Amino acid sequence: MTQKQRIADAQTTDDLWRLMLRRVPPIVSEYFRGGADAEITLRGNVQAFQQSQTTAYGAQKFATLDTSTEVVEQRLEVPWFLSPVGSLRSLYPKADAVAAEVAGEYGTVMSLSTLSGTPMEEVAAASTSGCWFQLYLCGGKETALRGIARAKAAGFRGLMLTIDTGVSGLRALHAKMKPMEVAMTFRGLGLVDRLKLAARKLSVSPQMVLRMPWLLAHLRDGGLMQFVNVIDDQGRPMPYADIGTQLAASAVTWDDLRWIKQAWGDELPLIVKGVHCARDARRAEELGATGVVWSNHGGRQQDRVPPVLHMVAQEMPKVGDSQLDFMMDGGVRNGTDVLIALTYGLKAVGIGRVTAAGIGAGGRFGLRRAFEILRSDLDRAMRLVGLESVAELRQDGYKVRRESALRGIGHLPDFVF
Ligand SMILES: Cc1cc2nc3c(=O)[nH]c(=O)nc-3n(C[C@H](O)[C@H](O)[C@H](O)COP(=O)(O)O)c2cc1C
Repeated sequence: MTQKQRIADAQTTDDLWRLMLRRVPPIVSEYFRGGADAEITLRGNVQAFQQSQTTAYGAQKFATLDTSTEVVEQRLEVPWFLSPVGSLRSLYPKADAVAAEVAGEYGTVMSLSTLSGTPMEEVAAASTSGCWFQLYLCGGKETALRGIARAKAAGFRGLMLTIDTGVSGLRALHAKMKPMEVAMTFRGLGLVDRLKLAARKLSVSPQMVLRMPWLLAHLRDGGLMQFVNVIDDQGRPMPYADIGTQLAASAVTWDDLRWIKQAWGDELPLIVKGVHCARDARRAEELGATGVVWSNHGGRQQDRVPPVLHMVAQEMPKVGDSQLDFMMDGGVRNGTDVLIALTYGLKAVGIGRVTAAGIGAGGRFGLRRAFEILRSDLDRAMRLVGLESVAELRQDGYKVRRESALRGIGHLPDFVF
């Protein structure tokens, strides 16, 4: 059976995740899987959805469903968008452009990470329904200003500022694999260090050779990617380097939001991502954001912060208390998750690892399958729960939510991703 056939047969995003693990070497896939510390928040994001329940209104029949939504004045045909995922290009050639293309086919938005390997102009050109640019302050203010100007010129329709990465979280299993060491070049090294590095590189070659389709595609795509959307004052892209050090050196503060907003302007939306509490949502709004993404970075930053769905339940301001458009990401794995999230009044949800699952399993074909799975799941869930539009879900969805009487996590399926 070919990988394409396996993808076509996938029924869930768990299936796609397993196909991604089969195609991509562990030293790469672990970057996409890992969560911070004990991974309690990573699992909690998913389990919070699994522990949510709704009732279902029976004896209803809908000719059509309306899954469209409007968020930060942009219409999405499906109520999910692609959250920014750095280094996506290590999974598949020009993966960021492929993701933008597929998102466009389904009428939704792709958010491009600052730490991406495909030039932002190519990504914007591949989309038929718009992209947002996610900003980190890597390289400092001047570098960020260059990035903002470039994103505007390339036609990005929103700027998404991530505020939860003052330092990088500890993802222990990946750290132990020492990916940065493997990525080093021999340049400037003495003989002993060269030999050590050669041994290190050789130690990971079996996992690459065993995944020949990935390896050939990776080599054809130019090998190790560079951060081509972070350009220094000499016009050079940032080399693939220690992201943790970069992030710590360029942590964002609320004061930065002022010049970022000024540089981006008022015409297009500014979205703040990585908001955990009502206080920060208020602050973002005061400083000119029109959208907020409740997010704990997919459990990759601070462990033991609440699952995002619980954050939403506890922190969303009452209707009328805020003009912000609220979104969330973290733990969304299927269409029922999307439905449940929308019952809290959110305008859309973001997917992170589901994108990696689709793209990693098989590029365009894999991501299309992920979208198909989410779409048919959501369609089924809306018909079975008995709500026919995103607007109805957002307004009346709270009426179908039910407190679960099942305690603990013993009844939950094994955690896949
Ligand atoms: C491998 C990986 C890389 C990520 N890179 C970024 C990034 O560059 N910028 C950012 O704001 N968020 C980044 N995120 C966080 C996602 O945007 C999103 O918040 C998270 O993946 C949502 O959780 P989920 O994976 O359970 O869907 C990344 C997430 C993953 C898994």
